[in-house]
Amino acid sequence: MSYAKRVWLTVLAVSLGAGPVSADIPEKFTNLKELNPEISRDDLIATMRQFSTALGVRCNFCHMQAENSDELDFAADGKEEKDAARVMMRMTKVINGDWISKVAEEGHPSVQVECVTCHRGQPHPRLIEDVLADAYTAGGFDSLQTKYAELRNRYYGSQTFDFSDRMLSELGHQIGGDDASIPVRLAELNVQWSPESSMAYVYLAMAHSEADDVEQAKADIAKALELDPKNRWAMRLREQLDAPPGQHDEH
Ligand code: HEC
Ligand code: HEC
Repeated sequence: MSYAKRVWLTVLAVSLGAGPVSADIPEKFTNLKELNPEISRDDLIATMRQFSTALGVRCNFCHMQAENSDELDFAADGKEEKDAARVMMRMTKVINGDWISKVAEEGHPSVQVECVTCHRGQPHPRLIEDVLADAYTAGGFDSLQTKYAELRNRYYGSQTFDFSDRMLSELGHQIGGDDASIPVRLAELNVQWSPESSMAYVYLAMAHSEADDVEQAKADIAKALELDPKNRWAMRLREQLDAPPGQHDEH
């Protein structure tokens, strides 16, 4: 590859991954404690791009600004995030070398844990269930609803959070405690966001049935079967709801 072309690709790669980088990235590196100090420039840049993408951040998340300049001083230590990243690099190496390797199938290259395996595009890798449960504790259902809309607008289609048609209704059981109205509200919210999902209506029917609202549960099942006439979960639930009291199959 011509020199000019390689430089251009590098510039493109760096800016796509992490925003514009004006600083010159040197050929030789002076402060590598975890990476092989002889690493090539291309490999180093690829590694740094992976870090940035895995955490959903830019280079300046870990690298501090050089004095009297708006460029980054990549070799300098001084940001906690860079120290944390070194700890994480060591941890990841140990996970793969000492642990994953023990369960690797013979004859198959073992799956490697990478930064993105945990981080999935966020600096503090959290599950959406936990983020929403916190919003609920802090500000009740309204705040959970607002948080969900915010996360969905920002992250839908990425690997960061689970926006499947099941998550909200599962969460309803986690945060509802003894209050059967909470799972119903979460299952309603789920239907609002996934109006074409037959399963979303099955979850709503289950929540209504647990709240002893059998009529509403039957209406939900009718809607589920309208959306997918072959939905066997909906058929099974309809049979249970139609069975006379006392004949519910508990198994
Ligand atoms: C999640 C934190 C993190 C992000 C984001 C990150 N880096 Fe790094 N970078 C590090 C760490 C940690 C080292 C030192 C690795 C070591 O000690 O082996 C490093 C080292 C470097 C070095 C070598 C400096 C030297 O001379 O020792 C360069 C150059 C560099 N990064 C460029 C970048 C660029 C360009 C980006 C954005 C595309 C970036 N980094 C994003 C954590 C990060
Ligand atoms: C096994 C899961 C896992 C892997 C693999 C992993 N991390 Fe992390 N990382 C975490 C968790 C969890 C936290 C949050 C700790 C906390 O603050 O509660 C974290 C925190 C961090 C932070 C601090 C974020 C901040 O805001 O201060 C950095 C930087 C980081 N990780 C970088 C990396 C890099 C780079 C890699 C790959 C070399 C990596 N992590 C691999 C789980 C992981």
